[in-house]
Amino acid sequence: RIAGPSGLVIFGVTGDLSRKKLMPAVYDLANRGLLPPGFSLIGFARRDREDEDFAQIVHDSVREHARTEFREETWQQLAEGMRFILGDFGDDEAFKKLRETVDDLDASRGTSGNFAFYLSVPPKFFPKVVRQLKKHGLADAPEGSWRRAVIEKPFGHDLRSARELNALVHDVFEPEQVFRIDHYLGKETVQNILALRFANQMYEPIWNRSYVDHVQITMAEDIGIGGRAGYYDGIGSARDVIQNHLLQLLALTAMEEPIAFDAESLLTEKLKVLRSVRLPEELGEHTVFGQYAAGWQGGEKAVGYLQEDGIDPASKTDTYAAVKLEVDNRRWAGVPFYLRTGKRLGRRVTEIAVVFQRAPHSPFDSTATAELGTNVLVIRVQPDEGMTTRFGSKVPGTSMEIRDVTMDFAYGESFTEESPEAYERLVLDVLLGDANLFPRPEEVEESWRILDPIEEYWETHGRPAQYTSGGWGPTEADEMLARDGRRWRRP
Ligand code: BG6
Repeated sequence: RIAGPSGLVIFGVTGDLSRKKLMPAVYDLANRGLLPPGFSLIGFARRDREDEDFAQIVHDSVREHARTEFREETWQQLAEGMRFILGDFGDDEAFKKLRETVDDLDASRGTSGNFAFYLSVPPKFFPKVVRQLKKHGLADAPEGSWRRAVIEKPFGHDLRSARELNALVHDVFEPEQVFRIDHYLGKETVQNILALRFANQMYEPIWNRSYVDHVQITMAEDIGIGGRAGYYDGIGSARDVIQNHLLQLLALTAMEEPIAFDAESLLTEKLKVLRSVRLPEELGEHTVFGQYAAGWQGGEKAVGYLQEDGIDPASKTDTYAAVKLEVDNRRWAGVPFYLRTGKRLGRRVTEIAVVFQRAPHSPFDSTATAELGTNVLVIRVQPDEGMTTRFGSKVPGTSMEIRDVTMDFAYGESFTEESPEAYERLVLDVLLGDANLFPRPEEVEESWRILDPIEEYWETHGRPAQYTSGGWGPTEADEMLARDGRRWRRP
């Protein structure tokens, strides 16, 4: 899979995402020989950064963040095809220059009119950039070539704004031209959920309400909000990651088998399952929102969310969220899916745990199984990518005693191939026009349909529960599961 003649335009080239993820991803693709010979990159940056040496910024970001080894030869090849344009997003001159640069690269480097426009900019600029692309004739591909738009989340703030955004984007681009990034779908372990379920025979027969007690999907982070106060405050953890990453994980875990592994079939099944997601009636009992208070993390003192720079001391923004959802269909009726995420938790881990029911009957006496838990299958999305199964086994000795043991599959041990970074995979897919790993507008809107009532409830019911930095979230979240007779895992 090598991309054909093409170029990439990045709006917001000096931003955090571009420096930490996009530029290194482009470099890694080049280093692995997956980009076409005349590949070109146009960085669009705001005028107030006039004095900066952009090539140097890209160079430094590559040196710092690329996965593959730094090779001067790769860098030189990339640098030859790099151009920078300075201007505000409303600036017609800058967009004229962009158009000229695109034409010039077509002629001088053979990009053949094929360009992807990556909007790595704050959402308030989306409408402007999209309109400018239309106005300057950049959105319509010349005969025989393609133009694509890549949009970073957040796709709106709620269902209404997501619909408006989708309408605006589709006013300018055809649906097949638009690629929405949910970088979790680019992760190797996330793609493996479908391989695990549908390339094997042994899991699918038990993947349902007859055997599964409940599912826990956890995305825990040890970091706080860092320098992202401007983005994060008013958004919060549920909009930041449940609306997209965690609901995508739920969809992949719960969906039916797609008739083929293509974008259309995947959309059909993911959408069906998202549409069957039902919220509990008592949102106060089955959801929890929290905010980190001061504490200790990794041996260092951590300030609370309300003391972070740039945060309104009266802010109600959630940095922790736990919700109980049900998937209202024949396969999953009555099986809760508990989703939780939080900043400044005990450690960074993302996992999906499918927790099975107890065996319906035991021939052993109760002392033999006193320490036996339930079977669990854990898909470890990150770190230590892999899978663990927990089951009971006889303790060696002359009496019958059964205890939990685990069986592990680790990517690092089973494969010698390296996993590409999510952005590397996704940027390549954009250039190839492969839409499998990109959520479609219908999924985005459906996810807001699920989240909106929860956000509204939190908005009008009290303040977020405080939890100590470095711990595992508010006690209210433990109580929420305890009411159902269950416990959160401590990964
Ligand atoms: C982003 C969120 O989508 O995902 C961030 O906006 C979060 O708040 C990040 O830190 C986590 O990504 P990863 O790949 O490190 O799990």
